[in-house]
Parts: sequence; C-alpha cells; structure tokens
Amino acid sequence: MARVLTGIQSTGVPHLGNLLGAIIPAIKMSQDSENESLFFIADLHSFTTIRDKKTLEHNTYATAAAWLAFGFDTKNNLFYRQSDVTQVCELSWYLNCFTPFPMLANAHSFKDKSDRLSQVNSGLFTYPVLMAADILLYDAEFVPVGKDQIQHLEITRDIAGAFNHIYKDSFVIPEAKVDEKVMTIPGTDGQKMSKSYNNIINIFLDDKKLRKQIMSIQTDSLGLEDKKDPSNCNVFKIYQLLASEEDSNKMEEKYKAGNYGYGHAKQELFELICNKFSSQRERYNHLMSNTDIIEEELIEGAKKATLIADKVLKRVRNNIGY
Ligand code: ADP
Ligand code: TRP
Repeated sequence: MARVLTGIQSTGVPHLGNLLGAIIPAIKMSQDSENESLFFIADLHSFTTIRDKKTLEHNTYATAAAWLAFGFDTKNNLFYRQSDVTQVCELSWYLNCFTPFPMLANAHSFKDKSDRLSQVNSGLFTYPVLMAADILLYDAEFVPVGKDQIQHLEITRDIAGAFNHIYKDSFVIPEAKVDEKVMTIPGTDGQKMSKSYNNIINIFLDDKKLRKQIMSIQTDSLGLEDKKDPSNCNVFKIYQLLASEEDSNKMEEKYKAGNYGYGHAKQELFELICNKFSSQRERYNHLMSNTDIIEEELIEGAKKATLIADKVLKRVRNNIGY
C-alpha cells in the first residue's frame, strides 16, 4: 500500500480550477484501495500571509467543506488540519538546521512572493522547510502536486537525504507525483484561473452570484448573428471541460453556425454547473452552516494523524540524541 499525502493552502474558497485541477483528481486517487491518502489543510502556511482570525477560520472551513462536499472518504483515509498536529513545528526546526540558506534564497516561490509582497517575513522564507516537515512527518511516499510545487519537493528530498546521511534511516524519501494530464483551467479573463488574478468561478456561490460570475467571462465583440470560433472562446473552453463530448460537440456546432450569442453559451454553462454540481453545492452549504460537523471531522483526523506523527518524531529525536 502506498502512502499518498498532499496539502492545500487555505487561502480562500476553492474555485473551479482548484476543484478540477487538484481536489477531484486527488479524491479519485484516494479511491484506489492500493493507496492510503492523507490530505490536510495547510493553515500554518496560510499564516505567512493571513492576519485575521475570522478569515483564517473561514478559509479552513471552506476548504474542508469543498473536500467533504466532493466526497472525500475520511473514514478510510486521513483528513486533518496542519495546525492541530503541532509536532510538525518541532520537526520543522530540526529540518531548518539541515537546510542550506542559499537553497531557500533561490526558491522560485520565495523570489516570486518577495517581489510581490510589501512585507516579507521569515515564515515565507522557510515555507519550504515547513512543507518538508509536513511530508516527512508522515513517512509519505508520493506527493501529488501541481508543477509549481516540484521545486519544493526537490528541496524536501535534499533535506531528507542530507539528514539521513548523518542520522541513518530517519526519513522516507518522497516522490512528487505530477499529473501531466491535468490542464490549467482558464479563468473568466482567459488567464490561468487563480485567486490572485480575480478571475475565478466559485461554484459554491448562490445562483444569482454564480450567474453573474459566469456572465463576466470575457469574450470578443462579435454580434449574435456572426459565426464564431469556439477554440478561441473562454466560455467554450470551460464548458468543454465539464460537459459530455456530445454536448460539447453540439455547442461547437452552434458557435460555427452563427445566430448563437455568447450570452446563450454562458447561460448553458451556468445551467451545466448548477446541474452537474447540485449535490456538492448543497452539501457544501449544509456544512458551512454546520461547521461543527467539519470541526468533528478535523479533530478525528488529527487524532489519527498524531499517532503517525508521534511515532516518526520519536524516531528522529532518538536518532539525534534527544
Ligand atoms: P491559486 O492559484 O488560486 O492560489 P493554489 O496555488 O492555491 O491556487 O492551488 C491549489 C491547487 O489547485 C494546486 O494543486 C494547483 O495546481 C491547483 N490549481 C490552481 N489553479 C488551477 C487552475 N487554474 N487549473 C488547474 N489547477 C489549478
Ligand atoms: N505549498 C503547497 C501549495 O501551495 C501546499 C502544501 C503545504 C503542500 N504543505 C504541503 C503540498 C505538503 C503538498 C505536501 O499548493
């Protein structure tokens, strides 16, 4: 059985890109009985940038609710909140003492963030070390991540290798699992959908707000009667990712025939999202109105995660001489 672990930062409500690019594929992977999956909400990582109690709490619940609404099986896997298993902070310190300063200074994500943010704290700098601790604390073998996280996995492997070189058999060396098939989902402006670009589709909004978001998808200025090229249209690109092949073909024909406006296509996309995700939207809203259910799941998950974390940390402390 392979141990698969991944974390997702709780920086907002998961959007359609997060769902199609990360959450749904990860849940599919967890359904393989050959795997044992550990998924956690990286709320300690969020603390590098979020400074508001309500926002931090809300984002954690919203992220957890999305995973649960899409059917993550918490009974046969582990689902927990990073900050509930404080052993990760202790391990992070040991790993910090094994991390060459230039390795962190050269990390793309740090360079990128330190260029963009007005205040750069050292938590942002050591972010990859905490991430290494997240992974090594649970003897994870495979870590599904997006391409942007590959360097962090390389850092994890380097730190673990250097540590094992002196303190033999302390850590399992993990492997990144990057799904090349997962496409980048475009946002309402055609760029990669991202919280940072203000171009998201949040399927958990109420109908009116969701419709407004879909109506805001940018298109060219061709008129109703004009024939249109679906391959150049953001509405069609998103529709195609969600619809059956048959329905996509039908929409493609309508674009090419003319007398079919972008407003029509957007309305079809809105209806598709409402139908396709109706049970998930309902479950999400139920959970967000009853956060005690989420809290219970996370506490139970943390209890199971702590058992593994204690065992690994004991091994490491013993190897160091503490
Ligand atoms: P954001 O760009 O909105 O801040 P994150 O960087 O927090 O998103 O990404 C969380 C997960 O969702 C990652 O695994 C990432 O690869 C995936 N993801 C984010 N945006 C997209 C997208 N537009 N298409 C596909 N996957 C995405
Ligand atoms: N850094 C990851 C991201 O921004 C989130 C994360 C934190 C993570 N710890 C992790 C992912 C451990 C995989 C394993 O997406």
